[in-house]
Amino acid sequence: NGPYDAVMPLPKAELHLHIEGTLEPELAFALAARNGVELPYADTEELRKAYQFSDLQSFLDLYYELMAVLRTEQDFADLADAYLARAAEQGVRHAEIFFDPQAHAARGVEMGTVVEGLWRALGRSEAVHGVSTQLIMCFLRDESAESAMETLEAARPYLDRIVGVGLDSAEVGHPPVKFREVYEAAAALGLRRVAHAGEEGPPSYIAEALDVLGVERVDHGLRCVEDPALVERLVRDRVPLTVCPLSNVRLRTVDILADHPLPAMLDAGLLCTVNSDDPAYFGGYVGDNFLAVQDALGLSRERLRELARNSFVASFLDDDEERRAR
Ligand code: HPA
Ligand code: ZN
Repeated sequence: NGPYDAVMPLPKAELHLHIEGTLEPELAFALAARNGVELPYADTEELRKAYQFSDLQSFLDLYYELMAVLRTEQDFADLADAYLARAAEQGVRHAEIFFDPQAHAARGVEMGTVVEGLWRALGRSEAVHGVSTQLIMCFLRDESAESAMETLEAARPYLDRIVGVGLDSAEVGHPPVKFREVYEAAAALGLRRVAHAGEEGPPSYIAEALDVLGVERVDHGLRCVEDPALVERLVRDRVPLTVCPLSNVRLRTVDILADHPLPAMLDAGLLCTVNSDDPAYFGGYVGDNFLAVQDALGLSRERLRELARNSFVASFLDDDEERRAR
């Protein structure tokens, strides 16, 4: 009974997953062919060689470039179906899935195409994959606050399919306060709120996301470790952090996995979860992230079970749904 058999079947919720970041090279080329989109790479092998990132922006450049192949509802359905199948194999029972509508609007792909397309897969995911799902619409923080507000407006017809809003893309120079009004409007519409903070940005962005945007969960949140008073607050208020270990290594947020602060964060009492972020780009799905931290950081089986439990506690499921999912 090796590490794989101990980790993969653990029931997990995945709370930090960009659906566009699950676009594997093979599917990218298949969709490019289907849609007559020219990719500037000869084949999947050459594309994979481009997966060498020096920071968040160098990843985002490729992430936005490859999205060009996503055009129709069926493309989004195929993308989500492929993710849900992989996730189910790795023990995921519930997924709260980010999507980036502004990145698609930039190519003329409308909100309805994205949401209806994703829904083709999500709507039958429990039956087909045994994975319950929710959608979180992210605003691109390097776009304007006005554009975010227009995006929220465009989502109004689809709000029964969207559980909450998030904030992603290039962090530094785009503090949470820039999105105060759109988060207030989202809260008034009954949407849950999360935000990426403290990935590349300073710990003060984490506090600001809590204070100004009213987020109930922080995505990444890694740089909280630089501010002991902030750690104390996050522990006291049981604010969940969606940590993404393989992402942190690939984007050079930490040098090597053995140096990852996850064990220290758990020891400090932080409510951490383990997630894959953009698994097609960062070398693994959520179970692979569990295995990698077990291997590099020597986490005990009890710690891994705690991380899996945390993922349900930190999810947007209510107690009954949670019991059914795990
Ligand atoms: N950080 C910020 N924006 C993103 C990420 C991330 O890890 N993945 C996709 N968009
Ligand atoms: Zn992310």
